[in-house]
Amino acid sequence: MTTALVILAAGKGTRMNSDLPKVLHPIAQVPMLIHAMRAGSVLSPEHTVIVTGHGSEAVAKVARAEDEGAQITVQEDQLGTAHAVAQARSALSGFEGDVVILYGDTPFLQPDTLERMIEARSGNDLVILGFEAADPARYGRLVMTGDVLERIVEFKDASDEERSITFCNSGLLACNAQLLFSLIDEVGNDNASGEYYLTDVVEIARRRGLNVTAVACDEAQTLGVNSRADLAAADAVFQARARAELLDLGVTLMAPDTVYLAADTVVGRDTVIEPNVVFGPGVTVESGATIRAFSHLEGCHVSRGAVVGPYARLRPGAELAENTRVGNFVEIKNAEIAEGAKINHLSYIGDASVGAATNIGAGTITCNYDGVMKHKTTIGENVFVGSNTMLVAPVTVGDGAMTATGTVVTRDVDPDALAVARAKQENKPGYARKLFDMLKAKKARRDKKA
Ligand code: UD1
Ligand code: CA
Repeated sequence: MTTALVILAAGKGTRMNSDLPKVLHPIAQVPMLIHAMRAGSVLSPEHTVIVTGHGSEAVAKVARAEDEGAQITVQEDQLGTAHAVAQARSALSGFEGDVVILYGDTPFLQPDTLERMIEARSGNDLVILGFEAADPARYGRLVMTGDVLERIVEFKDASDEERSITFCNSGLLACNAQLLFSLIDEVGNDNASGEYYLTDVVEIARRRGLNVTAVACDEAQTLGVNSRADLAAADAVFQARARAELLDLGVTLMAPDTVYLAADTVVGRDTVIEPNVVFGPGVTVESGATIRAFSHLEGCHVSRGAVVGPYARLRPGAELAENTRVGNFVEIKNAEIAEGAKINHLSYIGDASVGAATNIGAGTITCNYDGVMKHKTTIGENVFVGSNTMLVAPVTVGDGAMTATGTVVTRDVDPDALAVARAKQENKPGYARKLFDMLKAKKARRDKKA
């Protein structure tokens, strides 16, 4: 069975109190919409249709970055969930498979839940995902007769008796696409909210004598995000889960609660992560590395045996080979650091390559930006870069070369050569004493006047 995903993401998310569309708010540094798309990807959908409204262009950009083929359809006015799904009709014209409806603001959904919904479809025309609610609050209630779902009644429209039902609607639904559109054609908006409710398709399907059922999942999977507080709580749940997974995989987290992970962080066995480390998106750390306290990593790769930090910053494109050392207050961006190289203190290495076993002295800077363009610095193997060397890119330092402390390197340095580019030192005997006396006298005159 081929499937199509339709992800509803048009809602304004008023309670987020934000200029950013709700579904673009990140959890573990990945937009909620992407969490939903990744959960849905287990179905290998033939189409992914995203119904956008507020901030449509921004949402489309993020969706396409994740999946080039994502189809975006704009719901100009948010007239209800059935109206939202109807916007996907032209994107799915001629599509004969199943459609699965997801919400863009429900990031906890587990892939196997979707698989169970698809399985349930074999004996049913329409499948709804429900859950037993600890506090059913304002959720739609599922009115069941045995395994048959008779109808869904929205809280606002429910009688007291219906409100006592605790089996609730998650909003997820699976159905043949063309059948769903034909059911939606019959949905009206004569209800307490004046909206076109997607939930009405259940009763319409039953009237047509179709089989409808509900599959249950645990409530945690269906939790939506409606406010910043929900977002923070959702992030905390993701962090707790991700930390527990790393611990299970044999990673040492000295103070787990202080390590902030991204949804895609990968860390190998026997790596040690000290307190207060932040992982942005796209980080992989191999086995047996050490990430020391207060380091910040994003879009980078750290190989076996490397030691990073404390207080190091690895930015996108930082590639650290085995047994490298990156120490305190060192920033590395778009640079390959070969095996055993050391950059231990106070340096910026950007748009560069550093050869094996090279030592970069404290305060070294690759001057990679001329104000308009970025340029590359190439440093060979077994090089000794003296402290406070400025490498003005584009520039190459050959294997086995040395730069003297304080050198501004503007021309290539041959292998095994020493580059020295600094003013000659001159010592003036007794001058310091004279200068001090002069300055003290000046200050005394000024203090007297005041
Ligand atoms: C909906 C369900 C309710 C269920 C609950 C679960 C209906 C009528 N009700 O209620 O039974 O218990 O979700 O959370 O479906 N959206 C659009 N366009 C619209 C309206 C909504 O894209 O015109 C999107 C929203 O962005 C959101 C999702 O659809 O992602 C759900 O909409 P929302 O207004 O939150 O529905 P609820 O009233 O919570
Ligand atoms: Ca909602």
